[in-house]
Amino acid sequence: MSRLDSFIRRMLAQRACLNWAAEAVADIAGPVLELGLGNGRTYDHLRELLPEREIYVFERAARSSVRAHAMSLPPEKFLILGDIEDTLISVATRLPAKAALAHNDLGTSDARAYETLALRFGELLIQLMAPGGIIVSNVMLLVSGLISLDTPPGVKPGRYFIYRNLRNV
Ligand SMILES: C[S@@+](CC[C@H](N)C(=O)[O-])C[C@H]1O[C@@H](n2cnc3c(N)ncnc32)[C@H](O)[C@@H]1O
Repeated sequence: MSRLDSFIRRMLAQRACLNWAAEAVADIAGPVLELGLGNGRTYDHLRELLPEREIYVFERAARSSVRAHAMSLPPEKFLILGDIEDTLISVATRLPAKAALAHNDLGTSDARAYETLALRFGELLIQLMAPGGIIVSNVMLLVSGLISLDTPPGVKPGRYFIYRNLRNV
């Protein structure tokens, strides 16, 4: 498969999972967490899907070097800058409630290092999630209390991941 085909399939999987998750959290109150602003594409999509929700966006780049398209920049109050292992801790007192939905789209060019990082921030992330809340992730999260859900039809298993938080349910 060409890299272009692989990229397109990943984007289709990402969109299908986000669309499914937005419906799945209809009855769960709470904000949305977007991990990895990047270009702002998935932030923009989430804001279209869930216009009534507050969306907190995490990014390690400084505001001056954030690469997001100007139209996809969250308001300053909702942009949480810094390394995810620090900001997932410091944001806890700023959130109005536990999150109904989180989308993890962090990443590095070193897949092994990213998997190791995900093992650490997964435990921090679940602590911010509402009981029954949904996490959509581009990497597997091995955290006790998270159960893996099937991805929507058309998404090859292992291409994207969906979890429900069963802690304190
Ligand atoms: C794949 S991009 C996100 C793409 C974005 N969701 C979009 O649709 O445009 C990953 C982003 O995560 C950020 N990132 C990677 N590791 C991070 C970390 N440890 N803490 C905070 N942000 C991180 C990178 O700076 C990058 O902007």
